[in-house]
Amino acid sequence: MFNEGSLDEKIALDHLSLSLNEGDFVTVIGSNGAGKSTLLNVIAGRITPDDGDVRIKNQSMLDVREFKRSRYIGRVFQDPMAGTSPTLTIEENLAIAYSRVHKRTLRPGVTAKRRVFFKEQLEMLGLGLENRLSAKVGLLSGGERQALSLLMATFTKPDILLLDEHTAALDPSRAELITNLTKKLVEKGNLTTLMITHNMQQAVDLGNRLIMMDKGNIVFQAEGEQKQGLTVNSLLEEFSKIKSDSSLSDKALLI
Ligand SMILES: Nc1ncnc2c1ncn2[C@@H]1O[C@H](COP(=O)(O)OP(=O)(O)OP(=O)(O)O)[C@@H](O)[C@H]1O
Ligand SMILES: [Mg+2]
Repeated sequence: MFNEGSLDEKIALDHLSLSLNEGDFVTVIGSNGAGKSTLLNVIAGRITPDDGDVRIKNQSMLDVREFKRSRYIGRVFQDPMAGTSPTLTIEENLAIAYSRVHKRTLRPGVTAKRRVFFKEQLEMLGLGLENRLSAKVGLLSGGERQALSLLMATFTKPDILLLDEHTAALDPSRAELITNLTKKLVEKGNLTTLMITHNMQQAVDLGNRLIMMDKGNIVFQAEGEQKQGLTVNSLLEEFSKIKSDSSLSDKALLI
């Protein structure tokens, strides 16, 4: 609940319960204000829930502060500028992401051995960034930066990957590139993933599970064969069932 006791009081998540199996790739849809980003923020520790628990591998995360949770959690945001440091080079950015997880075992900074590993990882993006290790990240395009953010969020094999409309700020061809990379990196790492999107086709095409949120709760979900059988139209039908008492503009917002 935000702003409790004031006129702006808002329940962003309401008795929501979600349990993920290892390797689940869940697409998350729902209209503006449904609580999707709040859900990811609660999992990541940016927002502390008033009630309930967040467990990763059966361990409660409530007492684990956000920066410590980042050892277990990979995140990519909508803004391509958010996940990387522009004044640092590509390899320095990768080294920071790497040391967040491998604190005790490795020296900080970029060692020769680690540089080889970084190059291998960058090659997977197919953007030639492996030849630009010492380029400042501020010089990269939005698409390249988002690809790098995605790599930094995944190559440490987080227990859960949180993607909040991470293709929404890119032009269609770059968005497609990042979508394909997401699929590749998630599958390769068998990463448990929650991906918020307003792109219904993307929500239908990707992953093995889908959840639809409304007013802070899950109002529809599908997995396995049912998920595979979903179409954009069938989802819109589900959505209009839920919204049958509200205006058409809500439906437009979902798309
Ligand atoms: N820090 C905050 N303080 C007060 N209210 C907030 C805060 N963060 C979110 N809210 C409210 O909680 C509700 C859920 O917001 P949230 O950002 O989770 O929605 P969303 O599903 O991600 O929407 P969108 O598709 O627009 O990104 C909204 O009504 C929003 O205004
Ligand atoms: Mg949001």
